[in-house]
Amino acid sequence: MKIMQLYASMKSDLQSIEDMMAKTVRSDLPLLSETSLHLLKAGGKRLRPVFVLLSGKFGDYSLETLKHVAVPLELIHMATLVHDDVIDDADTRRGQLTVKSKWDNKIAMYTGDFIYAKALTVVTKLPNVRIHQTLSNAIVQMCLGEMEQIRDFFNVEQSVRNYLLRIRRKTALLIAISCQLGAIATNAPARISDALYRFGYNVGMAFQIGDDLLDLCGTEKTIGKPPGSDLRQGNITLPVLYALEDADIRDRLLREISLIRESEGSVSSVAAVKLVRASSGIAKAEQMSDRYIAKALKALDTLPDNNARRNLHDIARFVAKRSY
Ligand code: IPE
Ligand code: IPE
Ligand code: MG
Ligand code: MG
Repeated sequence: MKIMQLYASMKSDLQSIEDMMAKTVRSDLPLLSETSLHLLKAGGKRLRPVFVLLSGKFGDYSLETLKHVAVPLELIHMATLVHDDVIDDADTRRGQLTVKSKWDNKIAMYTGDFIYAKALTVVTKLPNVRIHQTLSNAIVQMCLGEMEQIRDFFNVEQSVRNYLLRIRRKTALLIAISCQLGAIATNAPARISDALYRFGYNVGMAFQIGDDLLDLCGTEKTIGKPPGSDLRQGNITLPVLYALEDADIRDRLLREISLIRESEGSVSSVAAVKLVRASSGIAKAEQMSDRYIAKALKALDTLPDNNARRNLHDIARFVAKRSY
């Protein structure tokens, strides 16, 4: 099934999640409602709720229960993005102004905090403490991942392993637990929630590698923000690490990266991006992403053969080829 058809088939459950998210972040303080609803209204793929709902099909599906997992997960994702745009000094996301750019950094920090806190109030409606623990651990790991990213800015000597560890924390874990918790909340057996976790983890790794590739190869129109942002702010991603291993490119790329560093981001990253695109780094990063997708599909093979499994398969394929 095509990804758009898949979304269409889940339309009514996704709408119910959408309504609950909007209700959750509404506040008596008009400014806070406005800033919190800003990113929500800008759209997004809602990938984490989709994973929760599909994983819930392996247990005793209950939209009411699953909403209390999907809403917090998507809100946590969104809170992180509001903060991430402050850290990355990003002006646009999802084709719209970021909160930090439409308002300012201070407003963005509290908007993010507010969305986080609201996410937690929703999940605490579920009695299963393990779900609360899994969610808070994922937030801890995301903070670690984002801190590691700051620590590693402009570090051209970092290893691929270092990069993989970082994206595991900042991105893959939240996707892994979206799948795992959908199953746990609907009382699916442990071997199923474990397999879904492995699926989500591997898709999540491929997803972030894809995001990093899009930042280098995408267009502003398709990715909703200017390409080259990662390099401009010193985030050395997998394609760049591989490009640095390319003897034809390495010295020129190092020079461009140090120019960006010395100018504190005011020098454009266009030349550096061009070099990475011309290197073997793109194909190598794509291969790594393909390896994660293959592992994700292998995890799926251990699950019962049903529609949800086929849908998860289609999403993995979409992630492997995505252009937005
Ligand atoms: C963006 O995530 C941040 C990453 C983890 C790469 P998404 O690409 O899922 O963002 P939206 O929600 O669709 O905007
Ligand atoms: C993803 O990292 C953000 C988090 C997982 C918190 P990016 O910085 O690559 O995300 P985009 O590219 O801004 O969406
Ligand atoms: Mg960012
Ligand atoms: Mg990115």
